Amino acid sequence: MPQPVRKAVFPVAGLGTRSLPATKSVPKEMMTVVDRPIIQYAVDEARAAGIELFIFITSRGKTAIEDHFDQQFELYHTLQQRGKDAQLAEARGSELPTGQFCFVRQPEPMGLGHAVWCARHIIGDDPFAVLLPDEVFLSRTPLLKQMIETYNEVGGNVVAVREVEPALTSRYGILDPAGAGDGIVVPARGMVEKPAPADAPSTLSIVGRYLLQPDVLDHLDQAVKGAVAGAGGEIQLTDAMAKTLGGHPFHGMRFEGERYDCGDRADFVAANLAFALARTDIEAPVRAAAHRMLDSGVAGPQKQAV
Ligand code: G1P
Repeated sequence: MPQPVRKAVFPVAGLGTRSLPATKSVPKEMMTVVDRPIIQYAVDEARAAGIELFIFITSRGKTAIEDHFDQQFELYHTLQQRGKDAQLAEARGSELPTGQFCFVRQPEPMGLGHAVWCARHIIGDDPFAVLLPDEVFLSRTPLLKQMIETYNEVGGNVVAVREVEPALTSRYGILDPAGAGDGIVVPARGMVEKPAPADAPSTLSIVGRYLLQPDVLDHLDQAVKGAVAGAGGEIQLTDAMAKTLGGHPFHGMRFEGERYDCGDRADFVAANLAFALARTDIEAPVRAAAHRMLDSGVAGPQKQAV
């Protein structure tokens, strides 16, 4: 059995420019899908996978995230006095255990690899997970838990992968499979960050969930100290992962579930609908409203160009 993964990194320093104006004064991670902020989905997913230390890579203007996972004494007190037990339980549900979550500042947006590098002293010599909170997954088994199950069998590094349209490879890290690459668990012999379709080694995109061995931090360290920027002029996690190949095993893993990129407007709306339809408390009225809108074309005449 490989060493258990107990630490997870949540890069939350991004500016959220894809979601303006919503993110002008609210961190993008605090935008809500149904009734909880996007970041809570990633944190709950990590909890379900056995994560015990939650490391947030943050930046200016993100304190709402810290407050969300902390206790909120005044609110709790008021709810308690008014006998609102269900609401109190809801509010307390997002608390993280004292001493098991921390915030590290990334002073400048220098890329995902740089964000992970900022956590190097906290990660130390342990395997760790990285969860990109923009992406939410609706699945029977939480995605990181699916990955831990695979990790327990194959060890090393495991990244979640999904097929994309060939034209879209330049938006993702793309896996170079060793062999046909058609199984659920795909051994990797390489990976490239955001290749043009003509240069892409496959159409298997790396989605925002990673289980990594700590040696990737040495490669990130070299990239940061040598100012070796990758795609987009940023320090790329994919480049550092590629450098670890040949050491520990490295696998992509196809997974069960739907992926929504909340930084994409249409996907964000779709995520709200999908998660609402998956909730027994609101499914019926949401389904009825969606049918009504689609059947009557009510949105048609009021369409607004943006
Ligand atoms: C990041 C990674 C990329 C990965 C993607 C998944 O890119 O660098 O390898 O495929 O997340 O969403 P970003 O979307 O931050 O540009």
